[in-house]
Formats: sequence, C-alpha cells, structure tokens
Amino acid sequence: MTNFVYIATSLDGYIAAADGGIDWLNEMPNPSDNDYGFGEFMDKIDAIVMGRNTFETVVSFGVWPYERPVFVLTNSLEDIPDGYKDKAAIVQSEVVDLVHDLNARGYENLYVDGGLTIQSFLQQDLIDELIITRIPILLGSGISLFGQLDTRLRFRHMQTDVYDNSMVKSRYARSRE
Ligand SMILES: NC(=O)c1ccc[n+]([C@@H]2O[C@H](COP(=O)([O-])OP(=O)(O)OC[C@H]3O[C@@H](n4cnc5c(N)ncnc54)[C@H](OP(=O)(O)O)[C@@H]3O)[C@@H](O)[C@H]2O)c1
Repeated sequence: MTNFVYIATSLDGYIAAADGGIDWLNEMPNPSDNDYGFGEFMDKIDAIVMGRNTFETVVSFGVWPYERPVFVLTNSLEDIPDGYKDKAAIVQSEVVDLVHDLNARGYENLYVDGGLTIQSFLQQDLIDELIITRIPILLGSGISLFGQLDTRLRFRHMQTDVYDNSMVKSRYARSRE
C-alpha cells in the first residue's frame, strides 16, 4: 500500500500562483507530446485523493482527465456537481481514517493531490513516495507545496529524469528506518 505525490512545482516551490493559476505549467513547450511518465504512474494507482481546490481546478478544465475514482476532501462542498457524480465523491474524514477506509475497500495505491491535502498527509507521515517535477520558473509567490511539520521526514532519492532539457522529475521514497 503506497501513497504517492506526483506534482509539478516552480523552482521556488509553488504549485500554483497566488490566485491558483497554473498557466505557467500549461505554457511549458511539449514538442514531442510527451506525458512525462504520467500514464505509467497512473497505471499503478487505484484511487485519487484531492483537496476541494484542486478538484475545482480540474473541473474548470472541462475535460475530466482521470480514469480512477476520485475522493474529494472538503468541509464546505455539499455535493459533487452534475456531470461528475460518477467520477468523484466527497469525503470528510481525518486523513488517517480515510486511508484506512480506502485501503479496506481495495484502493491500495493512492495518488494524493493538492497543496493543503499533501501537507495534511505529510503531517501524519502518510506519504510514501514524492514524485516532484521542477519547472524552471520562479513565481515569486503562490501556493506552496510544503508547509510546517512537527517532525522531520527523511526521503531517499530513487531516480531523476530530465525532460526536454528543462523539466527535472525526481522520485523520492520515504525512509523510515
Ligand atoms: N502544480 C501542480 O502539479 C498542481 C497539482 C495539483 C493542484 N495544483 C494547484 O494547487 C491549488 C490547490 O492547492 P491548495 O493548497 O489550495 O489545496 P487543496 O488540497 O487542493 O484544497 C484544499 C481544500 O481541501 C480541503 N481539505 C484539505 N485537506 C483536508 C482535510 N484534511 N480535511 C478536510 N478537508 C480538507 C479543504 O476544503 P474546504 O475548504 O472545502 O473544507 C481545503 O480548503 C490549485 O490552484 C491547483 O490548481 C497544482
């Protein structure tokens, strides 16, 4: 059972501009129409857990990109919008309980997405792999990937791939010994 983070950040560690914008991400040239390993990553995933803000961003795309069930953490959203009810469900539990519940339902490998959501998981030491793609831009401000932790969490570097001599994707596994 593995909980993964797979996310892109600016060089200064932001996952979105202060207004939530990810234009800087979408504007990256992709001359070879590469998915940068995302499809291969998704093949390992049983379900996605994301925060309400990330869910709303994905809905705004107009095209639903996931073929796995999505669980949306929220205390404010009362209902999944029409058109997405067969794709996503609202969850309101503590993240530890959520992981136990999803694992018990057969969702063993989880993709955890959204800054605050990832931070909630890290605070409970529930992330096993971090896959972070650094985009060569300094945003100067924005929504941070990481936040405060009560204890240090060590990770082991597993692999780094460079795409288009521009994006640097590094995979880190949690080192608990
Ligand atoms: N660069 C990338 O690859 C990437 C990837 C994903 C997202 N993003 C961007 O990141 C931004 C969203 O990140 P974000 O930091 O704002 O956070 P987020 O995790 O997407 O959403 C935060 C919201 O999720 C709910 N939530 C989170 N943890 C919870 C918990 N433990 N229990 C209950 N509810 C919880 C809360 O919703 P309520 O307020 O409804 O209670 C909270 O306000 C968006 O702009 C998105 O586009 C970028």
